[in-house]
Amino acid sequence: MCGIVGYIGSKPVVPILLDGLAKLEYRGYDSAGIAVLTEQGIAVEKSVGKLAILAEKLAHNAPQGTLGIGHTRWATHGRPSDINSHPHTDCAEKFAVVHNGIIENFQKLKEWLAANGHTFRSETDTEVLPHLVEHFYQGDLLAAVREVVKHIEGSYALGIICQDEPDKIVAVRKDSPLVVGLGQGENFIASDIPAILSHTRDTYILNDGEMVLLTANEVKVFDQQGQEINKEVFRVHWDVEAAEKGGYPHFMLKEIHEQPKALRDTLSGRLATDNSRVLLEELQMTPEEVKQIKKIFITACGTAYHAGIVGKYVIEDLARIPVEVDIASEFRYRNPIIDQDTLVVVISQSGETADTLAALREAKNRGARVLAVTNVVGSSVAREANWVIYTWAGPEIAVASTKAYTTQLVVMYLLGLYLAQQRGTLTQEQIREVVTALRELPAQVEAILGREEEIKGFVQKYAHCEDVFFLGRSIDYAVAMEGSLKLKEISYIHAEAYAAGELKHGTLALIVEGILVLALATQMDVFDKMVSNIKEVKARDASVVGITFEGEEELAKSVDEVIYIPRTHKLTSAVLTVVPLQLIAYYVAVARGCDVDKPRNLAKSVTVE
Ligand code: F6R
Repeated sequence: MCGIVGYIGSKPVVPILLDGLAKLEYRGYDSAGIAVLTEQGIAVEKSVGKLAILAEKLAHNAPQGTLGIGHTRWATHGRPSDINSHPHTDCAEKFAVVHNGIIENFQKLKEWLAANGHTFRSETDTEVLPHLVEHFYQGDLLAAVREVVKHIEGSYALGIICQDEPDKIVAVRKDSPLVVGLGQGENFIASDIPAILSHTRDTYILNDGEMVLLTANEVKVFDQQGQEINKEVFRVHWDVEAAEKGGYPHFMLKEIHEQPKALRDTLSGRLATDNSRVLLEELQMTPEEVKQIKKIFITACGTAYHAGIVGKYVIEDLARIPVEVDIASEFRYRNPIIDQDTLVVVISQSGETADTLAALREAKNRGARVLAVTNVVGSSVAREANWVIYTWAGPEIAVASTKAYTTQLVVMYLLGLYLAQQRGTLTQEQIREVVTALRELPAQVEAILGREEEIKGFVQKYAHCEDVFFLGRSIDYAVAMEGSLKLKEISYIHAEAYAAGELKHGTLALIVEGILVLALATQMDVFDKMVSNIKEVKARDASVVGITFEGEEELAKSVDEVIYIPRTHKLTSAVLTVVPLQLIAYYVAVARGCDVDKPRNLAKSVTVE
């Protein structure tokens, strides 16, 4: 977790660092800090709490300099506190370090350093780093850092400065993301592109083991062996606007509204103009390779895992290949049955989730071929998988995932159809039906967003509920899981999803007056059964909000409120049913005064286990 930034150039560094950190707060917001090289040496300022507290502290008394590093923290080793905040320094405060990741062997290193006279102030793993730099320093920061990385285990993206070399930043990464921004007479480092986008669009996306030496006028990149390498410049095409709130009160609401565009972008160029098939040029699997797939594993975490569950319904239905879905943190430790006839699909918005990355590596070690579905170009899962299908959702800043999920669903449909085409499991007519449905989705989501005021209006009545159940059958059940996660993570309401048919087997005991039930009823083959389940909870005095297709007016008789969504194919309904659930979660959280974009205890990108 955590976000790091660094700047070297000729401008006052503090506003640049604070601006960069603001774009990275989604990565953690327990504390923030900066280190600036001033004429008097390295000045460190840090505060527990959100970045605004640090900014306030610096408003009247900011250190002066044109070189510095900054950090926004999500605590792992050591509770959130001023002293545990980064940057960390050595005893003489000659070196300052910002770190994203975990130094797994820090305890051993700390004992060894302490025995050599180093004293420590914090409880963090990171603090061993400036002391190690100090230990190995012989007048060359780059050489000292090179020595340090030989001694540390774990994950890291590091930015390091030295008082005696006031024209340098050294940075290095392993298993934590790091980008370099290339400017004119100035250069940057950051954990993620939005932090530097207002300054430059030219970047280097660093790979594991790569180290960089930045001066104001030059960036040198070295491989693990210390050889200088020629790195390709990656030009970022997002506009600055795309990484900022765009007039909405919260990133989450903005991102909910960006879904029609995100869906269009993700479908763009991937559907034949006559709707006869999907085109997934990035897959390049031969029909033989596709036929060789005997089983698919989908593995991911959280919302991405829920997209995987929808994927199971979709791929099994369309391509008739057995699909198993596993939470990445389970998959990586449970001896799954995998061989070269298994395709493992990892889904990750960030492409950096530690468990998902470990699951990918485990799958590859066991001989499987891996397909990554991710939103971040050049992310770790993208680099390590055999194939990548990108979701083109644009940067997702709100901790609660919305547009990443719906675009992940779209990729599940594209993949299901692609496999079906290659395996010949569908008729031309059936393929056309799903492709046509996909093409209609962006406009249909727009239509649902047009009912926002209606949803916002009735949601107020239920904002006080403390227990909410989400019910559905078939693919509606998969979406119910995502609806439940959305509500609990941003409103802190206890919420659970159940397959409606399971109600009688225990859960019905919990249904009493005051409970809210969100009932998804879009699967026409089980519609009547779903209506029976709704009547069962109504009979126990629960309040029920139903979601169904336009034209299913009968449902209104059995529920308190009904939200109609445009009619679509039974599989593609997932993209539509989730939108009202996102809006309900959002407006309930707002009504309860919750910090929607930064829910307590959570961070956007979980890059540690
Ligand atoms: C919830 C949410 C998380 C992420 C999960 C995986 O709204 O966003 O559950 O889906 O942490 O993250 P990625 O997709 O980046 O691997």
